[in-house]
Amino acid sequence: MAARTHKRLQPEPTGHDDRGGRVLSAVNAGQGVGWNGAKGAGRKGEGMTAQDRTASERLRLLVTRRLPEMVMDRIAREYEVQLADLAPDLDDRVLWEGAEGCDAILCAPGDSLAAASIANLPGSVRALATYSVGHEHIDLEAARSRGIAVFHTPGVLTDATAEVAMLLLLGAARRAWEGQALVRSGKWAGWEPTQLLGRTLAGKRLGVLGMGRIGSAVALRARAFGMEIHYCNRKRLGNPSEGGAVFHSTPRELFSNSDFLTLHCPASEATQQILDARSIGWLPRGAVVVNSARGSLVDDAALIAALRSGHLAAAGLDVYEGEPAVNPAYLQLENVYLLPHLGSATVEARNAMGHKALDNLAAFFGGSEAPNRLV
Ligand code: DGY
Repeated sequence: MAARTHKRLQPEPTGHDDRGGRVLSAVNAGQGVGWNGAKGAGRKGEGMTAQDRTASERLRLLVTRRLPEMVMDRIAREYEVQLADLAPDLDDRVLWEGAEGCDAILCAPGDSLAAASIANLPGSVRALATYSVGHEHIDLEAARSRGIAVFHTPGVLTDATAEVAMLLLLGAARRAWEGQALVRSGKWAGWEPTQLLGRTLAGKRLGVLGMGRIGSAVALRARAFGMEIHYCNRKRLGNPSEGGAVFHSTPRELFSNSDFLTLHCPASEATQQILDARSIGWLPRGAVVVNSARGSLVDDAALIAALRSGHLAAAGLDVYEGEPAVNPAYLQLENVYLLPHLGSATVEARNAMGHKALDNLAAFFGGSEAPNRLV
């Protein structure tokens, strides 16, 4: 594994970092201010807006990944920034070293902030904002017991993620990967009456497991494709939110009424491998399953077996248990359409996620109520 480093964000004259990527174009107003946040009430910069803080009062933020330029520019305007190395997996040593003297950490999915990681954070850290709506990578209880506030970014990635769920439904049902591969191979011999026949969405029942923001946004889009919506949720939505969808009180009832199934529940003990051999068996033969929520919802071995046996016609996956590792059996299957966790990967969503994370931190440090506080 490559050695990890931290660096303070500095304006670089070339406009590019040593990895060839763009670096901050804004001047880091906190540059060179070596303030190590003192502990306790009445700390420097507390209760003020970022604009009101002078350079010496600026709070210090550890950012674990380089975020989109617009977000990095704002961070540089508002904080003294410590940027962790770009390695995708943040280990504890890097986290603890990087967080030394920081008031807050801006982390991302894939950064494991388990109980031990949080327990050993420097005492200066008072807030943790994740650049995601999902927060299963953070041990909330550990944060609570350390008195560290935790924030996430719901709402702003709903459309982007719902679009990817639709892409998965269409990609899996219409055999988009096989089609793409055929054209790219240069072996496509022309239109054929029986070439790559898929399944149409129109007129089919779409089962939505988890009818929160994203599940509802998928249902809205799927209706426009002529699908009949069924759902299972902890609570029945009722009208008008239900939008004519059929409520099922158990996953079993939902699955047995779904020609297509899309997963939208959060990762938790209760949802761990909710799609397993038993529940796949409840789906009608030839069903199509997609997952744009979390890899932990799926028992990969069971899904692979069902795709091989033909019990499931196809699957579309954007997320994987243990990602970025992907069960190699998926790569051998033609009836699975795979994406690399692109749910929120639009310019609009990723900028908005950054602003939401920073708005929450600003509210917290400014002494007002932060809208998306988990702990
Ligand atoms: C989230 O916000 O949880 C997403 O998975 C990131 O794309």
